[in-house]
Amino acid sequence: MRRIGSSIMILTLALVYAPAPGQDLQTLVPHALQFAQQQLRQSVLEIGDSARFARSSQSDGSWKTTPARDWTSGFFPGALWYMYEYTNDPFFKKSAEKWTAGMVEQQFDRGTHDLGFKIFCSYGTGNRLSPSEEYQKVIVQAAKTLSGRFNPVVGCIKSWDNRKWVYPVIVDNMMNLELLFWAAEHGGPKELREIAVKHAETTMKNHFRADGGSYHVLSYDTTNGSILVRNTHQGYADESVWARGQAWAIYGFTMTYRFTKDPRFLATAQRAADYYLQRLPADHVPYWDFQAPEIPNEPRDVSAAAITASALFELSSYVKTEKQKEEYLRHAKNILRSLCAAPYLAEGTASHAVLNHATGSKPANSEVDVSIIYADYYFIEAMLRYLKLGK
Ligand code: GLY
Repeated sequence: MRRIGSSIMILTLALVYAPAPGQDLQTLVPHALQFAQQQLRQSVLEIGDSARFARSSQSDGSWKTTPARDWTSGFFPGALWYMYEYTNDPFFKKSAEKWTAGMVEQQFDRGTHDLGFKIFCSYGTGNRLSPSEEYQKVIVQAAKTLSGRFNPVVGCIKSWDNRKWVYPVIVDNMMNLELLFWAAEHGGPKELREIAVKHAETTMKNHFRADGGSYHVLSYDTTNGSILVRNTHQGYADESVWARGQAWAIYGFTMTYRFTKDPRFLATAQRAADYYLQRLPADHVPYWDFQAPEIPNEPRDVSAAAITASALFELSSYVKTEKQKEEYLRHAKNILRSLCAAPYLAEGTASHAVLNHATGSKPANSEVDVSIIYADYYFIEAMLRYLKLGK
């Protein structure tokens, strides 16, 4: 009897809280943030150990976790920091500090280009909300470590070691530049900025097709900087456009413009955004690759949608005309509206995450159509950016 009573209660709550279709963002966003708050609170209790980091959902909806060395480790503490920013709740601050501290050794990890993701999403977001000398030191050290992967002949930071490529650089790597730009402005060596600018220039020159679509992996000859191959790793084909790669390009060049105010980077961000926005399905969430062969029977990638929504809120504040601004804002809001409701919002499903329907690597059949922590991180960031607009 008590069970039936509590089921009715849950159903009533679900009916009260479930957003009706067509509701506006001023209602949908606080609702989705409330849900994100519940999910993150539960995730903290579920994971417990600050040496383990939420990564993606398993078949029962619980988190598969990873150690701090994984490229995704910074997103869980980062999401906790964002939730602290939204709620001002000491529970989230304490939890964010705990998982951020769990990453401290990563500042010395020379084996990855993903130090930007790892350290800037955790320590960087933490330092913005709760500045400390300790956090700043970790960030600057991580930036120095990352700069050790730069090759001046190529003009890029090397993405991966021990793969089939000589000197692979992936479009995702644009995201790691934020760490370098920030560190150069906060006590780190000035060369960090020069490295970031050079990496962005080389990527701008080599990673895009005439239509604004991006390649995923380029490999370079380290003796003369020439391009050896243009391939994909997580996309459908070498000549297709992997949706999340394109999202990283939009976000990465928008962020690079934030630090440099160089109009070439703004133009690159806009070209990448225009390519992406012209190829979306009706619900504004892309399939995992824009040229995936079985569209519309292909998995979506909600992470690409979340990254792009967040990037578009920023991009809209830099473009030159009111018309462009309104266009990017309209697209960002359309994406958010979709993500704030079923089937993307994980509310009422088994997932312990915030969003469903992300795709990690379809070619590797890994994390296909599941929840993934970086989708949640950028979704929460996008919602906070929306709220800061105040409209
Ligand atoms: N940077 C790896 C990925 O986006 O899957």
